[in-house]
Amino acid sequence: MTGRYSLILILICLFAGQAFSQPDNTSKKVDALLAKMTLEEKIGQLNQYNGDWAATGPVTDDLRDKMKLISEGKIGSMLNINGVEKTRAFQEAAMKSRLKIPLLFGQDVIHGYHVTFPIPLAEAASWDMEAIEKSARVAAREAASGGIHWTFAPMVDIARDPRWGRVMEGAGEDPYLGSHIARARVRGFQGKGLGDLEAVMACAKHFAAYGAAIGGRDYNSVDMSLRTLWEFYLPPFKAALDAGVSTFMTSFNDLNGTPATANNYLMRDILKDKWKFKGFVVSDWGSVGEMIKHGYVKDNAEAAEAALNSGTDMDMESSSYVNHLARLVKEKKVSQENIDDAVRRILRKKFEMGLFDDPFRYSNADREKKTLNHPDHLEASRDMARKSIVLLKNERNILPLSKDLKSIALIGPLAKAEKDMKGFWTVELGQKNDVVTLHSGMQKQAGKTSLLYAEGCAINDTSKAGFAEALKVAASADVIVMAMGEAHDMTGEAKSKANIHLPGVQEELIKAVMATGKPVVVLLMSGRPMVFNWTADNVPAILYTWWLGSEGGNAIADVLFGKYNPAGKLPMTFPRSEGQIPIYYNYLNTGRPSMGDNDLFYRSAYIDLPNTPQYNFGHGLSYTSFKYSNLKLSKDSMGTRDKITVTFDLQNTGKYTGEEVVQLYIRDLVSQPVRPVKELKDFRKLSLKPGESRTLTFTLDASKLAFYNDELKQITQEGEFKLMIGSSSKDIRLDKSFFLTK
Ligand code: NOJ
Repeated sequence: MTGRYSLILILICLFAGQAFSQPDNTSKKVDALLAKMTLEEKIGQLNQYNGDWAATGPVTDDLRDKMKLISEGKIGSMLNINGVEKTRAFQEAAMKSRLKIPLLFGQDVIHGYHVTFPIPLAEAASWDMEAIEKSARVAAREAASGGIHWTFAPMVDIARDPRWGRVMEGAGEDPYLGSHIARARVRGFQGKGLGDLEAVMACAKHFAAYGAAIGGRDYNSVDMSLRTLWEFYLPPFKAALDAGVSTFMTSFNDLNGTPATANNYLMRDILKDKWKFKGFVVSDWGSVGEMIKHGYVKDNAEAAEAALNSGTDMDMESSSYVNHLARLVKEKKVSQENIDDAVRRILRKKFEMGLFDDPFRYSNADREKKTLNHPDHLEASRDMARKSIVLLKNERNILPLSKDLKSIALIGPLAKAEKDMKGFWTVELGQKNDVVTLHSGMQKQAGKTSLLYAEGCAINDTSKAGFAEALKVAASADVIVMAMGEAHDMTGEAKSKANIHLPGVQEELIKAVMATGKPVVVLLMSGRPMVFNWTADNVPAILYTWWLGSEGGNAIADVLFGKYNPAGKLPMTFPRSEGQIPIYYNYLNTGRPSMGDNDLFYRSAYIDLPNTPQYNFGHGLSYTSFKYSNLKLSKDSMGTRDKITVTFDLQNTGKYTGEEVVQLYIRDLVSQPVRPVKELKDFRKLSLKPGESRTLTFTLDASKLAFYNDELKQITQEGEFKLMIGSSSKDIRLDKSFFLTK
């Protein structure tokens, strides 16, 4: 290179270097604003309160005049204020404050806003990232049209305990599937990016390990090795972060003795230092103050000090920050630097959302009217709902129902359910519950078949008074469809259960109806995996339909009558008994593994219960069948910088067009520390016509074989691995060994 060119190159590099080290435009604006703020105004930005009419947590002080506090600059964000009218009124109060810093409006938009989608666990059963992203997209579009800037979703907590009520809100037990879903949801909520009028900020919650609450009791302590934390519980959070999630929420639990809300290791060491998270962290509802009850701090001042110093930027509802931080700064217990960092993170988001350009840009009545309940949103909800349904069993091909039936009896306490069909986390907009019940959905598609109906029993009652009527109706029908399950408030926050059997006398009603000898299809609507052993063993056809949202009735009817061929796969293991919990497919083998359910002696087994679950992770049938064949590996050993290409053929061998979710698992046969018997490492969902065959290709590289050692470093170890390809974690159709070398 000539001297002249070198000089030009050096100048370009210097210029570029300077450009990179300059604060971006938004940072400049944030800093300029920060310079004008008093300490009290800064602390106001860190304070979030609930609107007065819809609490999603225990209300401690409802006498505060929030409008006044807002106009004094003492509140930076509100939750549970929705709709253009209300958000506008609150934002107007913020515009009366000295610096006119706009409010952020947050809301639990968990599975839809006005149009309700299936609960998140149900959506996870679709294994369909495009549909899941779309569901979040629609929810964001609707919420943003109603003045909302920020959803407290996705919940990315891994859960191995179906007693825990919040399993309904996550993506199940697997970190690989959970990470894919976390990314899809963040992409969906944040759309084209903050500032777009159809995007809301997403929030990865609850950081961290909330799903491992001891005994499945909500808010309970978590005690786990850091290796388990990194291996199973953190990956979906990292995935959300990689997808650009704007915020994180702390969790209520303590993790190995330190409440998550004051957990320096989680928030400073991992999230802000190692992962370089640039957004902000909000506490969970009251969780700053709740550290007093944990016994971690003695009062709200100590709580504020511990939480802020550990990296919780915004205090939801506990008032600890607004009441104590100013004094703590003066006493030098909290540094000005930490306060400024928290405020900067929040202001940056407000700038990115364009709220300083126009604080009312999300509060547009016309857009709200045009957006809510849009037919496209209903169609997306119906599609998501169909994709979420899992066909657990279909003996004698009872399903789909023939169009030539004279009559169908629809029996059960959920046949006409509205609120229950919508599920736990619905946003009540003060409008009528627009939901398609199962009864109306079936009625629309029944054609000439007459639809008979009887409730049979209540969801959770001891009375069998309705049995006689139900049996009479059953006796006069060709086929009986039973709508059974849980009420909308039996699974969700603070809805943990010790007994997760089908509630009330429902299973007795199923037995009585089965005794008629007629073909029976049982539909199970719920937010969690339930226990229903008699039904699983005796009823020929079972669909797990979860809580499906606004279009639930149409979606189930699509599946019952064969308009849609079900393809859902369970994202959680279904136990036979609460005694098996925690139960999950990726367990360690132990030194005395049980080789079968009758193999009890000196084995890691129960003497009164099989080890095996009722339904395995990844299980789900179709109206058609698939043949897996011809597994080939491009080579049988690879180095750590190498790849193996895996190919095999999948053929639809049945009569219906159908989708299959092909699952790829591996097992590291000898390893220190030891590895699980199976780990999901890839999957693909594809549709095939009858007779159609496709060659599928997966790639294995060292990243798929890596794991955390005791020093929490990701490593790989040489040796033999088993590759398994199947239709569920149990139904493995093809396998082969390969080796990892240096
Ligand atoms: C408590 C829940 O744990 C959290 O997930 C939710 O976002 C807040 N309440 C606000 O409603």
